[in-house]
Amino acid sequence: MMPFRKPLLKALKTTLAYSMYLIPPQTSELLQGPGSVKKLPALIKTQGIRKPLIVTDSILMEIRLLDKLFAAFDEIGMSYAIYDGVQPNPSVDNIEDAYALYLKNGCDAVIGFGGGSSMDCAKVVAGRVVRPNLTADKLGGYFKIMLPIPKKVPRIFAVPTTSGTGAETTSAGVITDPKKNTKYTINDFMIHPHFIILDPELTLGLPPFLTTITAIDALSHVIEGYIGSAHCQTSDIYSEVAIRMIFDNIDKVNKNGKDIVARSQMMMASYYGGIVLNRSLTGYVHPFAHKIGNMYNLPHGRVIGAVMPAVFDFYGKTVEKRLARLADIINISHPSMSDAQKTKAFIEAIRTMNQAYGIDATIPELKESDFKEIAHSIHWECIPYPVPKIMDDNDIFRLLRVLKG
Ligand SMILES: [Fe+2]
Repeated sequence: MMPFRKPLLKALKTTLAYSMYLIPPQTSELLQGPGSVKKLPALIKTQGIRKPLIVTDSILMEIRLLDKLFAAFDEIGMSYAIYDGVQPNPSVDNIEDAYALYLKNGCDAVIGFGGGSSMDCAKVVAGRVVRPNLTADKLGGYFKIMLPIPKKVPRIFAVPTTSGTGAETTSAGVITDPKKNTKYTINDFMIHPHFIILDPELTLGLPPFLTTITAIDALSHVIEGYIGSAHCQTSDIYSEVAIRMIFDNIDKVNKNGKDIVARSQMMMASYYGGIVLNRSLTGYVHPFAHKIGNMYNLPHGRVIGAVMPAVFDFYGKTVEKRLARLADIINISHPSMSDAQKTKAFIEAIRTMNQAYGIDATIPELKESDFKEIAHSIHWECIPYPVPKIMDDNDIFRLLRVLKG
């Protein structure tokens, strides 16, 4: 069941979409280019910081991806603490453990080093520092860190090691609570990273499948923002540039993971995706992917890849003009083609991309008996999202059947 009737929901979404104009854009300082991570300790020092907490995961420690950063800290004689227990979907315990380590070591800044999970964990720890009475499971929702009185959070440095989530530039963190089998999304301007380090060298060792599913995630951020009703001229520019970058480079990074130019482009595209997410939010693709991914423990980007074409097909005429423009941008259209034909070609290009890099078009794990629960979650998550066309239960069930294959 939908929580509101369609016209009321549409009015609510329109109001929320327009209210995005009232939100000032969040900005970060950018350090970018191959090897830029080595400059991070010196940058931290200029901020008057004494001892940062590095938040990362054990795999990155094992493959020694942080060695260059550690060496740069040693070079300037700066100490740091490390929390390397971040799990793929950071848990409430991860936040609390990292926070305890932050206090124990007398830290005064956080560095989120890794994929979206490590960056989200670091962001939430920074928020936790200024709200010592609110454990991580109480921070879910909107502006729990900022309100009632904003306090200065420790400096947050985000260092992505994949090109996809855009978490380095979003004002949100998602954490899970395995004991209650639930997740919390913490939305708060106070946890927007202050500094972003985009070093493509950190992504050179990413295996092809991980490269692809993260790229597909970035692609979905820029397209969902582009066709939703909260897009604006600025977000359109980021979307259009990023879409071109992804289509131009996905094959290069798959064939040669060491192609530093292509890796740089993918990293920028992912960063632009985060900017678009902040401004324009998402549509139905993400609520489907969140619930299905959580329920069957499937990687985010793999589900996104399957869901995207099916949702865009459902949008139909409502997104024709926008997707036709994207077909022009990636050069798969011809002046003689109608908008409908261009849109079809664009959706087909996503399907071809999925197929080329091993992303299944269907999700056989889906169970018909779970459809009601999935629909319920999608309706609730989607309330504030500026979707181009609203789905009811039957639309969702139909789409889930298509995805089940
Ligand atoms: Fe995503």
